[in-house]
Amino acid sequence: MNVQINCGSQVKGTVSISGAKNAIIPLLCASLLAKGKVLFKNVPKITDVTATCEVLRKIGCKVFFKGHYLLVDNTYLKYKPLLFDECIKMRGLYYLIGVFLTLFSKCEIYMPGGCKIGKRPIDIHLKAFEDMGYECVVKEKILKITRRTVLSDINISLKDRSVGATINSILAGLSFNSYKIDNTLLEPEGADVICFLKKIGYPIYVSNSLIQYKKIPIEFKFIKHKVIPDRIETLSYLLLGLLKGEILVKGVNLNHIDQPLNLLIEAGYDIKIEEKGIRVKKSTGKGMVIETKPYPDFPTDMQSIFGVLCACQKESSIIVENIFENRMQIYQDLINSGVNCIVEGNKVTINGGSIDIKRSYSACDLRHGMALILISCIENKKVIIENFDYVLRGYDDIFNKLKGIGIFVKNIR
Ligand code: EPU
Repeated sequence: MNVQINCGSQVKGTVSISGAKNAIIPLLCASLLAKGKVLFKNVPKITDVTATCEVLRKIGCKVFFKGHYLLVDNTYLKYKPLLFDECIKMRGLYYLIGVFLTLFSKCEIYMPGGCKIGKRPIDIHLKAFEDMGYECVVKEKILKITRRTVLSDINISLKDRSVGATINSILAGLSFNSYKIDNTLLEPEGADVICFLKKIGYPIYVSNSLIQYKKIPIEFKFIKHKVIPDRIETLSYLLLGLLKGEILVKGVNLNHIDQPLNLLIEAGYDIKIEEKGIRVKKSTGKGMVIETKPYPDFPTDMQSIFGVLCACQKESSIIVENIFENRMQIYQDLINSGVNCIVEGNKVTINGGSIDIKRSYSACDLRHGMALILISCIENKKVIIENFDYVLRGYDDIFNKLKGIGIFVKNIR
């Protein structure tokens, strides 16, 4: 889908933040482990959620999605090889591996491929499954996991820190009597999954990088869970306001954005924490030095979006991407638009310059797409963004939310 962005001279209004994409996907997968129906609240209507619902239906679940409520009834869930196209397109569906290992002690799924932001191997996940007594074989792009040894108590350490491998190991180990998983990496979304798993009857304890679990009998019950606010969506709208107008961003969790928010405050941007939310006003800030690192440090998902804000400042900024090997596309767009950026591998020095916004840009991943929305708003002219579908994968109700603050997005194909 290609869209035309038409940003008026003034961006002004209120934006309410939706549930976190990177929480709801593992949560939906984890709902298969509940004994009873599950009602999720604050669910973002994004295409990654609708694709996950499709897969849950294909394996026998009943899924009802209305407004921001989503009900999963897994009564008729059946084992099936997960050889669905959605599993190739959407990496987050690999959380079904952990769930299937707990439920069925086996799993067959398309190997999640690399993507524009990097190769994204899943070796840390596979090593953890092997340490739990499973055998993992990849043949013709299909990953087949079967039980090799029956173990009762697991004590493993992840071979490297990974958000996805942490969540997948937490899910995969729930059929064992107990586990200890060390060297884990929990961001707020993973912590939300643990909160949900506790509600449905799996006692999981976290101390630093060690996660422990000890099985207890599980009762049938109806579970409700409210998804945490999306910290990346929160920061994205805050930056739009700082760049272009005045926005009150509501429904945020301040703890989850502490580091990037302080960075902006220290750089001198106009940010006020109010009872209702965070109010930001168009302002200029000092140059920033940003290095992406796991939570609670600076999130990789905000790197390109901050890059656009830095390009509009007088002072130079330096940004280093440490998590993904290929997440620097936005700087080429900025260079093509007249900004003086010096890219050396995964480090960029942004020296500003006079920006000459192009007629069109092309998104190559979700966050790059949001960064392009920011570029499109710098001047008051109409800009085309190609491949806008990427943005719809992770930003809830984006057409209406942008319209509400004076940015009009028209689908042109
Ligand atoms: N890695 C490996 N082997 C593995 C797993 C990861 O080498 O087995 C590498 C990755 O290639 C990457 C680094 O380790 O270079 C970190 O990967 P990690 O597993 O921590 O991240 P992820 O689970 O793949 C999730 C989010 C990302 C977000 C990162 C960091 C989902 C579906 N994805 O990725 O979200 O950037 O954590 O917070 O939850 C996005 O929302 O746009 C997005 C990319």
